[in-house]
Amino acid sequence: MQRTNLGNLRTYALWSPVYDRLIGLPPFRIARAKAHERLALEEGERVLLVGVGTGVDLPLLPFGIEAVGVDLSPAMLARARGRLPIEGCQIELLEVDAQQMPFADATFDAALLALILSVVPDGTACLAETLRLLKPGARAVVFDKFLPRGKRPSFGRRLLNRLTNLFGTDINRAFEPMAEACGCEIIVDEPAALGGAYRVIVFRKAQSEQTPRRSSAPWSE
Ligand SMILES: C[S@@+](CC[C@H](N)C(=O)[O-])C[C@H]1O[C@@H](n2cnc3c(N)ncnc32)[C@H](O)[C@@H]1O
Repeated sequence: MQRTNLGNLRTYALWSPVYDRLIGLPPFRIARAKAHERLALEEGERVLLVGVGTGVDLPLLPFGIEAVGVDLSPAMLARARGRLPIEGCQIELLEVDAQQMPFADATFDAALLALILSVVPDGTACLAETLRLLKPGARAVVFDKFLPRGKRPSFGRRLLNRLTNLFGTDINRAFEPMAEACGCEIIVDEPAALGGAYRVIVFRKAQSEQTPRRSSAPWSE
């Protein structure tokens, strides 16, 4: 089943009033905290929140961060705006398609892709666009559910996917082909919730074609 922006707009308009109740359940809360730990934002950094939704990530930002949150859905963004201001942070929320974002190349220190690559119509385009916007050597954290590495979707999983698609997400996307297509340098890939169905993945943009940077930062292994 092909996801579309129009479908997402409709689905997330319906979801927006109750979204926080589901996503606030303990397994998701714990997994999200892991994602933020890996993101390890530092004061003065500029972070891109791709598919910011209702802004569940906003209160988790540390002091002194400049954040830009983009989302396609006005209904979800309205909820995110309701969380502002966040003390000590400068936050801008914009109605933008994450597959084509209106920012200059290499303008963010970090990016968070929480539950967006399995939702947006073209995950690879979204990932490529995020990489374009990162500064050389900058990191991104993905928190999402994907097909287990190297597995093809079973019949049952394909059937279940018809249902989850109606609820606004695809459970049969694999991260590895997207990462490969975009040339992502994956540095962490760890289970985050529900027996590893949800993962936290950290990758970075190469410093340059020839010299990928070594780092001892907390988001590095
Ligand atoms: C499952 S929610 C995740 C929201 C938030 N990141 C979180 O972790 O709770 C997926 C979000 O992706 C947004 N979305 C779907 N298609 C999009 C697109 N093409 N561009 C930007 N956002 C999109 C939806 O509106 C929704 O807010």
